[in-house]
Amino acid sequence: MQIDIVTIFPEFFGVLDVSLLGKARRDQLLALGVHDLRDWTSDRHRTVDDTPYGGGAGMVMKPEPWGAALDALLGEPAAGDSGDDGEQADAVVIFPTPAGVPFTQALARELANERRLVFACGRYEGIDARVADYAATRARVLEVSLGDYVLNGGEVAAMAMIEAIGRLVPGVVGNPESLVEESHEAGLLEHPSYTKPQVWRGLEVPAVLRSGNHAHVAAWRHEQSLERTRRVRPDLLPDDQR
Ligand code: ADE
Repeated sequence: MQIDIVTIFPEFFGVLDVSLLGKARRDQLLALGVHDLRDWTSDRHRTVDDTPYGGGAGMVMKPEPWGAALDALLGEPAAGDSGDDGEQADAVVIFPTPAGVPFTQALARELANERRLVFACGRYEGIDARVADYAATRARVLEVSLGDYVLNGGEVAAMAMIEAIGRLVPGVVGNPESLVEESHEAGLLEHPSYTKPQVWRGLEVPAVLRSGNHAHVAAWRHEQSLERTRRVRPDLLPDDQR
């Protein structure tokens, strides 16, 4: 999978060199391009923002550098192409924004099947709305929110999404079975996990996990998942199971 990130803070993404995703890059399962939006500005000050039409606090990211960045990454539109019936690039362009659709495990799974993702990380009060409209003439576009809170920009959200998506790309996580038994895969939160020693600071590992009876272990884990989901995330359950 190819992932491109456009940002005014490329240094944010240095951490993608470490851990599982760093290894996936070295193993060429993931190709990551981090691009500085200011490289697509044309003025001496490398300006990326301006005051909002209609007034209000804060600054809005200007469309011109974003248009140039998208053209560079997706390919120039064909001459005379108004966009509407033009050829779509084989990529999904993702705008992290608190005004987007919620990012979920299901969306991560869907995006892990794509050949190419482009993350457009806005700052300030967001990106001029025409940029997403333009991008939609060139590729599939998603505005995606990490959750109901406001970050200072899209970078941290993009990083979280890249980690959630990247680990679902075949080969990235060594043991694919570990992807199945985790929170949100079966629509439930994960059961608690334990390792040795059997007793630690007076706290004992539940006996059923040491019984060697796989059916009992599976039933206990399912019950624990359900109980935890009911307690902390009843919204994940159908009405009759809450
Ligand atoms: N940018 C700022 N806040 C965000 C959020 N909650 N999700 C995605 N992108 C964001």
